[in-house]
Amino acid sequence: MTASVPAFPADFLWGVSASAFQIEGSPTADGRGPSSWDAFTREPGRIKDGSHADVATDHYRRYREDVALMAGLGVGAYRFSVSWSRVLPDGHGQVNRKGLDFYDRLVDALCTAGIAPVPTLFHWDTPLALEEKGGWLTRDTAERFAQYASVVAERLADRVPMWITINEPAEVTLLGYGIGEHAPGKGLVFDALPAAHHQLLAHGLGVQALRAAGARQIGIAASHSPVWPASDSAEDRGAAELYDLLTNRLFADPVLTGAYPDEGLASLLPGPVAEDLKTISAPLDWYGINYYNPMLVGAPQPASPAGEFGGIEIPADLPFAFRPIEGCEHTDFGWPVVPDGLRELLVRLRERYGDRLPPLYITENGCSYADAPDPVTGRIADDRRIEYHAGHLAALHRAMAQGVDVRGYFIWSILDNFEWAEGYRQRFGLVHVDYETLERTPKESYAWYRDVIKGGR
Ligand code: BGC
Repeated sequence: MTASVPAFPADFLWGVSASAFQIEGSPTADGRGPSSWDAFTREPGRIKDGSHADVATDHYRRYREDVALMAGLGVGAYRFSVSWSRVLPDGHGQVNRKGLDFYDRLVDALCTAGIAPVPTLFHWDTPLALEEKGGWLTRDTAERFAQYASVVAERLADRVPMWITINEPAEVTLLGYGIGEHAPGKGLVFDALPAAHHQLLAHGLGVQALRAAGARQIGIAASHSPVWPASDSAEDRGAAELYDLLTNRLFADPVLTGAYPDEGLASLLPGPVAEDLKTISAPLDWYGINYYNPMLVGAPQPASPAGEFGGIEIPADLPFAFRPIEGCEHTDFGWPVVPDGLRELLVRLRERYGDRLPPLYITENGCSYADAPDPVTGRIADDRRIEYHAGHLAALHRAMAQGVDVRGYFIWSILDNFEWAEGYRQRFGLVHVDYETLERTPKESYAWYRDVIKGGR
Protein backbone atom coordinates (compact mmCIF):
# COMPACT_ATOMS: atom_id res chain seq x y z
CA MET A 1 0.00 0.00 0.00
CA THR A 2 1.59 3.30 -1.01
CA ALA A 3 -0.79 6.07 0.00
CA SER A 4 1.33 9.18 -0.52
CA VAL A 5 1.55 12.15 1.77
CA PRO A 6 2.46 15.76 0.88
CA ALA A 7 5.76 17.22 2.05
CA PHE A 8 5.84 18.60 5.59
CA PRO A 9 8.42 21.05 6.97
CA ALA A 10 11.80 19.49 7.75
CA ASP A 11 11.43 20.16 11.48
CA PHE A 12 7.87 18.75 11.71
CA LEU A 13 7.67 16.38 14.69
CA TRP A 14 6.49 12.85 13.88
CA GLY A 15 5.32 10.87 16.87
CA VAL A 16 3.27 8.05 18.32
CA SER A 17 1.25 7.99 21.51
CA ALA A 18 -0.07 5.68 24.23
CA SER A 19 -1.17 5.96 27.86
CA ALA A 20 -0.12 4.21 31.07
CA PHE A 21 -3.32 2.41 31.98
CA GLN A 22 -3.89 1.20 28.44
CA ILE A 23 -0.51 -0.48 28.02
CA GLU A 24 1.47 -0.94 31.22
CA GLY A 25 -0.22 -3.73 33.18
CA SER A 26 1.66 -4.68 36.42
CA PRO A 27 -0.92 -2.93 38.62
CA THR A 28 0.76 -3.73 41.93
CA ALA A 29 4.41 -3.91 40.84
CA ASP A 30 6.97 -1.90 42.78
CA GLY A 31 4.42 -0.34 45.10
CA ARG A 32 1.91 1.09 42.60
CA GLY A 33 -1.37 2.10 44.24
CA PRO A 34 -4.77 1.38 42.64
CA SER A 35 -6.45 3.83 40.29
CA SER A 36 -10.06 4.65 39.52
CA TRP A 37 -9.78 2.47 36.40
CA ASP A 38 -8.53 -0.57 38.35
CA ALA A 39 -11.67 -0.34 40.46
CA PHE A 40 -13.96 0.39 37.49
CA THR A 41 -12.77 -2.62 35.49
CA ARG A 42 -13.65 -4.80 38.49
CA GLU A 43 -17.30 -3.67 38.46
CA PRO A 44 -19.40 -6.26 36.59
CA GLY A 45 -20.66 -5.11 33.22
CA ARG A 46 -18.49 -2.01 32.92
CA ILE A 47 -16.07 -3.35 30.29
CA LYS A 48 -17.82 -4.70 27.24
CA ASP A 49 -15.62 -7.78 26.76
CA GLY A 50 -15.40 -8.39 30.50
CA SER A 51 -11.67 -7.74 30.54
CA HIS A 52 -9.37 -5.70 32.80
CA ALA A 53 -5.96 -4.14 32.28
CA ASP A 54 -3.87 -6.13 34.75
CA VAL A 55 -1.64 -7.29 31.93
CA ALA A 56 -2.73 -5.05 29.05
CA THR A 57 0.30 -5.11 26.68
CA ASP A 58 2.72 -5.76 29.56
CA HIS A 59 4.61 -2.62 28.58
CA TYR A 60 5.84 -2.12 32.16
CA ARG A 61 8.06 -5.13 31.68
CA ARG A 62 8.52 -4.97 27.90
CA TYR A 63 9.17 -1.25 27.47
CA ARG A 64 12.62 -1.83 25.94
CA GLU A 65 11.09 -3.90 23.15
CA ASP A 66 8.49 -1.17 22.59
CA VAL A 67 11.12 1.57 22.49
CA ALA A 68 13.01 -0.53 19.92
CA LEU A 69 9.82 -0.68 17.81
CA MET A 70 9.56 3.10 17.99
CA ALA A 71 13.21 3.47 17.05
CA GLY A 72 12.53 1.21 14.05
CA LEU A 73 9.75 3.59 13.02
CA GLY A 74 12.09 6.55 13.20
CA VAL A 75 9.71 8.70 15.24
CA GLY A 76 11.02 11.91 16.73
CA ALA A 77 8.82 11.69 19.84
CA TYR A 78 6.82 9.30 21.99
CA ARG A 79 3.84 10.57 23.92
CA PHE A 80 3.18 8.36 26.95
CA SER A 81 1.52 8.98 30.30
CA VAL A 82 2.77 8.68 33.83
CA SER A 83 0.62 6.67 36.20
CA TRP A 84 -0.07 9.02 39.12
CA SER A 85 -0.61 6.10 41.53
CA ARG A 86 2.75 4.54 40.62
CA VAL A 87 4.44 7.73 41.72
CA LEU A 88 2.13 8.60 44.63
CA PRO A 89 0.22 5.43 45.57
CA ASP A 90 -2.29 7.44 47.63
CA GLY A 91 -2.36 10.32 45.18
CA HIS A 92 -0.40 12.55 47.56
CA GLY A 93 2.07 12.33 50.41
CA GLN A 94 4.70 9.61 50.29
CA VAL A 95 6.54 9.35 46.95
CA ASN A 96 7.11 5.83 45.65
CA ARG A 97 10.67 6.04 44.31
CA LYS A 98 10.39 2.70 42.52
CA GLY A 99 7.41 3.92 40.55
CA LEU A 100 9.29 7.03 39.47
CA ASP A 101 12.31 4.89 38.60
CA PHE A 102 10.28 3.17 35.89
CA TYR A 103 9.68 6.47 34.09
CA ASP A 104 13.30 7.41 34.63
CA ARG A 105 14.37 4.20 32.87
CA LEU A 106 11.82 4.74 30.10
CA VAL A 107 12.99 8.32 29.53
CA ASP A 108 16.61 7.18 29.41
CA ALA A 109 15.81 4.40 26.95
CA LEU A 110 13.97 6.90 24.72
CA CYS A 111 16.80 9.44 24.87
CA THR A 112 19.33 6.74 24.00
CA ALA A 113 17.17 5.82 20.99
CA GLY A 114 17.03 9.49 19.92
CA ILE A 115 13.29 9.77 20.67
CA ALA A 116 11.98 12.77 22.59
CA PRO A 117 9.96 11.66 25.65
CA VAL A 118 6.64 13.56 25.88
CA PRO A 119 4.91 12.64 29.15
CA THR A 120 1.28 13.33 29.93
CA LEU A 121 0.76 13.65 33.67
CA PHE A 122 -2.88 12.61 33.77
CA HIS A 123 -4.48 10.29 31.23
CA TRP A 124 -7.61 9.30 33.19
CA ASP A 125 -6.21 6.96 35.88
CA THR A 126 -7.00 8.96 39.03
CA PRO A 127 -5.47 7.43 42.18
CA LEU A 128 -8.29 5.48 43.83
CA ALA A 129 -7.59 7.06 47.21
CA LEU A 130 -8.45 10.46 45.68
CA GLU A 131 -11.39 9.14 43.67
CA GLU A 132 -12.92 7.75 46.85
CA LYS A 133 -12.81 11.23 48.34
CA GLY A 134 -14.74 12.69 45.39
CA GLY A 135 -12.08 12.65 42.67
CA TRP A 136 -12.39 15.51 40.22
CA LEU A 137 -15.59 16.72 41.87
CA THR A 138 -13.39 18.11 44.64
CA ARG A 139 -10.92 20.96 44.53
CA ASP A 140 -8.50 18.95 46.62
CA THR A 141 -7.69 16.67 43.64
CA ALA A 142 -6.51 19.70 41.63
CA GLU A 143 -4.20 20.71 44.47
CA ARG A 144 -2.85 17.17 44.82
CA PHE A 145 -2.19 17.13 41.08
CA ALA A 146 0.14 20.12 41.46
CA GLN A 147 2.21 18.23 44.06
CA TYR A 148 2.37 15.23 41.75
CA ALA A 149 3.43 17.42 38.80
CA SER A 150 6.32 18.83 40.87
CA VAL A 151 7.51 15.38 41.92
CA VAL A 152 7.58 14.08 38.35
CA ALA A 153 9.15 17.21 36.87
CA GLU A 154 11.87 17.36 39.51
CA ARG A 155 12.93 13.88 38.47
CA LEU A 156 12.53 14.09 34.69
CA ALA A 157 12.68 17.73 33.56
CA ASP A 158 16.39 17.53 32.76
CA ARG A 159 15.64 15.08 29.89
CA VAL A 160 12.06 15.85 28.87
CA PRO A 161 11.71 18.51 26.15
CA MET A 162 7.88 18.68 26.04
CA TRP A 163 5.19 18.17 28.67
CA ILE A 164 1.44 17.57 28.69
CA THR A 165 -0.56 18.28 31.83
CA ILE A 166 -3.88 16.56 31.20
CA ASN A 167 -5.41 14.42 28.48
CA GLU A 168 -8.95 15.26 27.40
CA PRO A 169 -10.61 16.78 30.45
CA ALA A 170 -13.81 16.78 28.37
CA GLU A 171 -13.97 12.97 28.17
CA VAL A 172 -13.32 12.51 31.88
CA THR A 173 -16.09 15.00 32.66
CA LEU A 174 -18.65 13.78 30.15
CA LEU A 175 -17.98 10.05 29.98
CA GLY A 176 -16.66 9.54 33.52
CA TYR A 177 -18.84 11.83 35.63
CA GLY A 178 -21.63 12.85 33.21
CA ILE A 179 -22.89 9.55 31.82
CA GLY A 180 -20.81 6.98 33.69
CA GLU A 181 -19.53 5.13 30.67
CA HIS A 182 -15.96 5.52 31.96
CA ALA A 183 -14.44 5.56 35.44
CA PRO A 184 -15.56 6.57 37.96
CA GLY A 185 -18.91 5.55 36.46
CA LYS A 186 -21.06 8.41 37.71
CA GLY A 187 -24.19 9.52 35.86
CA LEU A 188 -24.39 13.09 37.13
CA VAL A 189 -25.27 14.70 33.77
CA PHE A 190 -24.95 18.48 34.29
CA ASP A 191 -23.86 18.04 37.91
CA ALA A 192 -20.60 16.71 36.46
CA LEU A 193 -19.50 20.28 35.62
CA PRO A 194 -17.29 20.71 38.72
CA ALA A 195 -15.11 17.90 37.32
CA ALA A 196 -14.43 20.11 34.31
CA HIS A 197 -13.48 23.09 36.43
CA HIS A 198 -11.24 21.11 38.75
CA GLN A 199 -9.36 19.43 35.90
CA LEU A 200 -8.84 22.82 34.27
CA LEU A 201 -7.64 24.20 37.59
CA ALA A 202 -5.32 21.19 37.94
CA HIS A 203 -3.98 21.98 34.48
CA GLY A 204 -3.23 25.59 35.51
CA LEU A 205 -1.68 24.60 38.83
CA GLY A 206 0.25 21.89 37.01
CA VAL A 207 1.68 24.44 34.57
CA GLN A 208 2.91 26.51 37.53
CA ALA A 209 4.43 23.47 39.23
CA LEU A 210 6.11 22.28 36.05
CA ARG A 211 7.60 25.70 35.31
CA ALA A 212 8.84 26.02 38.90
CA ALA A 213 10.65 22.68 38.47
CA GLY A 214 12.34 23.87 35.28
CA ALA A 215 10.09 22.10 32.73
CA ARG A 216 9.96 23.56 29.23
CA GLN A 217 7.43 23.41 26.39
CA ILE A 218 4.22 22.80 28.28
CA GLY A 219 0.87 22.05 26.66
CA ILE A 220 -2.41 20.20 27.15
CA ALA A 221 -3.99 17.45 25.00
CA ALA A 222 -7.63 18.39 24.36
CA SER A 223 -10.20 16.51 22.33
CA HIS A 224 -11.95 18.65 19.75
CA SER A 225 -14.43 17.93 16.96
CA PRO A 226 -16.16 20.14 14.44
CA VAL A 227 -19.85 20.10 15.32
CA TRP A 228 -22.23 20.06 12.37
CA PRO A 229 -25.88 21.02 12.83
CA ALA A 230 -28.19 18.29 11.52
CA SER A 231 -30.13 20.88 9.49
CA ASP A 232 -30.54 24.63 9.08
CA SER A 233 -33.48 24.77 11.46
CA ALA A 234 -33.09 27.05 14.48
CA GLU A 235 -33.62 24.03 16.78
CA ASP A 236 -30.87 21.95 15.21
CA ARG A 237 -28.48 24.87 15.04
CA GLY A 238 -29.18 25.68 18.69
CA ALA A 239 -28.60 22.06 19.74
CA ALA A 240 -25.32 21.91 17.78
CA GLU A 241 -24.18 25.19 19.30
CA LEU A 242 -24.89 23.89 22.79
CA TYR A 243 -22.97 20.69 22.10
CA ASP A 244 -20.06 22.71 20.67
CA LEU A 245 -20.11 24.86 23.80
CA LEU A 246 -20.14 21.88 26.17
CA THR A 247 -17.46 19.81 24.47
CA ASN A 248 -15.17 22.28 22.69
CA ARG A 249 -15.51 25.76 24.16
CA LEU A 250 -16.06 24.81 27.80
CA PHE A 251 -12.58 23.31 27.81
CA ALA A 252 -10.67 25.51 25.35
CA ASP A 253 -12.01 28.99 26.20
CA PRO A 254 -10.81 29.02 29.85
CA VAL A 255 -7.33 27.86 28.85
CA LEU A 256 -6.96 30.11 25.81
CA THR A 257 -9.00 33.18 26.74
CA GLY A 258 -9.29 33.09 30.54
CA ALA A 259 -13.11 33.02 30.47
CA TYR A 260 -15.87 30.45 30.36
CA PRO A 261 -17.99 30.64 27.19
CA ASP A 262 -21.20 31.29 29.09
CA GLU A 263 -21.79 33.23 32.28
CA GLY A 264 -24.76 31.17 33.37
CA LEU A 265 -22.65 28.08 33.13
CA ALA A 266 -19.72 29.69 34.95
CA SER A 267 -22.08 30.58 37.80
CA LEU A 268 -22.77 26.85 38.34
CA LEU A 269 -19.10 26.12 38.93
CA PRO A 270 -17.37 25.90 42.30
CA GLY A 271 -15.19 28.92 42.88
CA PRO A 272 -13.47 31.19 43.24
CA VAL A 273 -14.00 30.95 39.49
CA ALA A 274 -12.65 34.36 38.46
CA GLU A 275 -9.50 33.81 40.48
CA ASP A 276 -9.09 30.25 39.17
CA LEU A 277 -9.44 31.42 35.57
CA LYS A 278 -6.24 33.43 35.97
CA THR A 279 -4.43 30.22 36.92
CA ILE A 280 -6.14 28.17 34.19
CA SER A 281 -5.18 30.62 31.44
CA ALA A 282 -1.45 30.84 32.19
CA PRO A 283 0.25 31.06 28.78
CA LEU A 284 1.10 27.73 27.16
CA ASP A 285 3.95 26.97 24.81
CA TRP A 286 1.71 24.87 22.60
CA TYR A 287 -1.77 23.36 22.46
CA GLY A 288 -2.50 19.70 21.64
CA ILE A 289 -5.49 18.51 19.65
CA ASN A 290 -6.86 14.97 19.69
CA TYR A 291 -9.04 14.55 16.62
CA TYR A 292 -11.05 11.51 15.58
CA ASN A 293 -14.24 12.65 13.78
CA PRO A 294 -16.83 15.42 13.45
CA MET A 295 -20.18 15.23 15.27
CA LEU A 296 -23.55 15.71 13.60
CA VAL A 297 -25.93 17.10 16.20
CA GLY A 298 -29.58 18.05 16.16
CA ALA A 299 -32.45 18.81 18.50
CA PRO A 300 -34.02 15.80 20.22
CA GLN A 301 -37.13 14.66 18.31
CA PRO A 302 -39.51 14.87 20.13
CA ALA A 303 -37.61 13.80 23.23
CA SER A 304 -34.40 11.88 23.01
CA PRO A 305 -34.66 8.28 24.21
CA ALA A 306 -31.75 6.43 25.75
CA GLY A 307 -29.66 4.58 23.18
CA GLU A 308 -26.23 3.76 21.87
CA PHE A 309 -24.10 6.00 19.69
CA GLY A 310 -20.52 5.40 18.52
CA GLY A 311 -20.17 2.63 21.08
CA ILE A 312 -21.43 4.81 23.95
CA GLU A 313 -24.63 4.50 25.97
CA ILE A 314 -26.42 7.86 25.77
CA PRO A 315 -28.95 8.72 28.51
CA ALA A 316 -32.44 9.99 27.69
CA ASP A 317 -33.52 13.63 27.83
CA LEU A 318 -30.33 15.36 26.76
CA PRO A 319 -30.96 18.71 25.06
CA PHE A 320 -29.24 17.46 21.89
CA ALA A 321 -29.22 14.26 19.86
CA PHE A 322 -26.51 12.64 17.76
CA ARG A 323 -27.21 11.77 14.14
CA PRO A 324 -25.20 9.28 12.12
CA ILE A 325 -22.82 10.74 9.56
CA GLU A 326 -23.49 8.90 6.34
CA GLY A 327 -21.83 8.74 2.93
CA CYS A 328 -18.35 7.95 4.27
CA GLU A 329 -16.37 4.99 5.58
CA HIS A 330 -16.68 4.02 9.22
CA THR A 331 -14.02 2.41 11.39
CA ASP A 332 -14.65 -0.82 13.28
CA PHE A 333 -15.69 1.39 16.20
CA GLY A 334 -18.40 2.82 13.95
CA TRP A 335 -16.73 6.24 13.89
CA PRO A 336 -17.08 8.13 10.59
CA VAL A 337 -13.87 8.72 8.65
CA VAL A 338 -13.85 12.42 7.72
CA PRO A 339 -10.26 13.57 7.15
CA ASP A 340 -11.24 17.09 6.08
CA GLY A 341 -12.90 17.49 9.48
CA LEU A 342 -9.38 17.92 10.83
CA ARG A 343 -8.71 20.83 8.48
CA GLU A 344 -12.10 22.33 9.25
CA LEU A 345 -11.49 22.04 12.99
CA LEU A 346 -8.04 23.62 12.88
CA VAL A 347 -9.16 26.51 10.69
CA ARG A 348 -12.15 27.07 12.95
CA LEU A 349 -9.98 27.11 16.09
CA ARG A 350 -7.66 29.58 14.42
CA GLU A 351 -10.61 31.83 13.53
CA ARG A 352 -12.10 31.49 17.00
CA TYR A 353 -8.98 32.12 19.07
CA GLY A 354 -6.76 34.13 16.68
CA ASP A 355 -3.40 35.03 18.19
CA ARG A 356 -4.35 33.43 21.48
CA LEU A 357 -3.94 30.03 19.90
CA PRO A 358 -0.38 28.82 20.50
CA PRO A 359 1.37 26.56 17.99
CA LEU A 360 -0.52 23.29 17.65
CA TYR A 361 0.41 19.64 17.77
CA ILE A 362 -1.98 16.86 16.80
CA THR A 363 -1.46 14.79 19.94
CA GLU A 364 -3.81 11.98 18.83
CA ASN A 365 -5.34 10.82 15.58
CA GLY A 366 -6.10 7.22 14.79
CA CYS A 367 -8.58 4.52 13.93
CA SER A 368 -9.75 1.15 15.15
CA TYR A 369 -9.54 -1.71 12.67
CA ALA A 370 -9.32 -5.32 13.77
CA ASP A 371 -7.01 -6.60 11.00
CA ALA A 372 -5.29 -9.77 12.16
CA PRO A 373 -2.16 -11.55 10.92
CA ASP A 374 -2.68 -13.58 7.76
CA PRO A 375 -2.53 -17.22 8.88
CA VAL A 376 -0.07 -18.13 6.12
CA THR A 377 2.14 -15.09 5.61
CA GLY A 378 1.74 -13.44 9.01
CA ARG A 379 1.26 -10.09 7.22
CA ILE A 380 -1.20 -7.62 8.72
CA ALA A 381 -2.56 -5.72 5.75
CA ASP A 382 -4.28 -2.78 7.44
CA ASP A 383 -4.81 -0.74 4.28
CA ARG A 384 -7.74 1.11 5.82
CA ARG A 385 -5.45 2.48 8.56
CA ILE A 386 -2.95 3.65 5.96
CA GLU A 387 -5.76 5.32 4.02
CA TYR A 388 -7.01 6.94 7.22
CA HIS A 389 -3.68 8.46 8.17
CA ALA A 390 -2.78 9.47 4.63
CA GLY A 391 -6.13 11.27 4.37
CA HIS A 392 -5.71 13.04 7.69
CA LEU A 393 -2.14 14.09 6.91
CA ALA A 394 -3.33 15.54 3.60
CA ALA A 395 -6.05 17.46 5.47
CA LEU A 396 -3.51 18.67 8.02
CA HIS A 397 -1.31 19.86 5.20
CA ARG A 398 -4.24 21.84 3.76
CA ALA A 399 -4.86 23.44 7.17
CA MET A 400 -1.20 24.46 7.34
CA ALA A 401 -1.45 25.89 3.82
CA GLN A 402 -4.39 27.96 5.14
CA GLY A 403 -2.08 29.44 7.77
CA VAL A 404 -2.63 27.21 10.82
CA ASP A 405 0.63 26.73 12.71
CA VAL A 406 0.93 22.96 13.32
CA ARG A 407 4.26 21.60 14.49
CA GLY A 408 3.75 17.85 14.78
CA TYR A 409 1.50 14.79 14.50
CA PHE A 410 1.23 11.85 16.90
CA ILE A 411 -0.52 8.68 15.78
CA TRP A 412 -2.79 6.99 18.30
CA SER A 413 -1.42 4.44 18.95
CA ILE A 414 1.93 2.69 18.74
CA LEU A 415 0.40 -0.58 20.02
CA ASP A 416 -3.02 -2.18 20.13
CA ASN A 417 -4.08 -1.68 23.74
CA PHE A 418 -6.80 -1.67 26.38
CA GLU A 419 -9.45 0.57 24.84
CA TRP A 420 -11.24 1.63 28.02
CA ALA A 421 -14.89 0.49 28.22
CA GLU A 422 -14.43 -1.50 24.99
CA GLY A 423 -11.72 -3.70 26.49
CA TYR A 424 -9.43 -5.24 23.90
CA ARG A 425 -11.82 -5.41 21.00
CA GLN A 426 -10.92 -2.10 19.39
CA ARG A 427 -7.42 -2.08 17.94
CA PHE A 428 -5.79 1.29 17.20
CA GLY A 429 -2.14 0.16 16.95
CA LEU A 430 0.48 0.43 14.25
CA VAL A 431 1.74 -2.71 15.95
CA HIS A 432 -0.52 -5.70 16.54
CA VAL A 433 -0.50 -7.26 20.00
CA ASP A 434 -1.47 -10.91 20.45
CA TYR A 435 -3.10 -10.79 23.89
CA GLU A 436 -2.42 -14.49 24.48
CA THR A 437 1.32 -14.43 23.83
CA LEU A 438 1.91 -10.65 24.03
CA GLU A 439 3.83 -10.94 20.81
CA ARG A 440 4.14 -7.66 18.90
CA THR A 441 3.84 -7.70 15.10
CA PRO A 442 4.19 -4.50 13.09
CA LYS A 443 1.27 -3.96 10.74
CA GLU A 444 1.72 -2.64 7.21
CA SER A 445 0.76 0.80 8.50
CA TYR A 446 3.94 0.69 10.61
CA ALA A 447 6.10 0.31 7.50
CA TRP A 448 4.06 2.98 5.74
CA TYR A 449 4.48 5.48 8.61
CA ARG A 450 8.21 4.69 8.76
CA ASP A 451 8.47 5.63 5.08
CA VAL A 452 6.43 8.80 5.58
CA ILE A 453 8.77 9.84 8.38
CA LYS A 454 11.85 8.98 6.34
CA GLY A 455 10.48 10.99 3.40
CA GLY A 456 9.64 13.89 5.72
CA ARG A 457 13.18 14.02 6.89
C1 BGC B 1 -8.08 8.85 24.34
C2 BGC B 1 -7.37 7.52 24.20
C3 BGC B 1 -8.29 6.54 23.49
C4 BGC B 1 -8.60 7.08 22.12
C5 BGC B 1 -9.49 6.18 21.28
C6 BGC B 1 -8.84 9.28 23.12
O1 BGC B 1 -10.02 9.85 23.51
O2 BGC B 1 -7.19 9.84 24.77
O3 BGC B 1 -6.98 7.07 25.46
O4 BGC B 1 -7.75 5.26 23.43
O5 BGC B 1 -9.26 8.31 22.23
O6 BGC B 1 -10.74 6.04 21.87
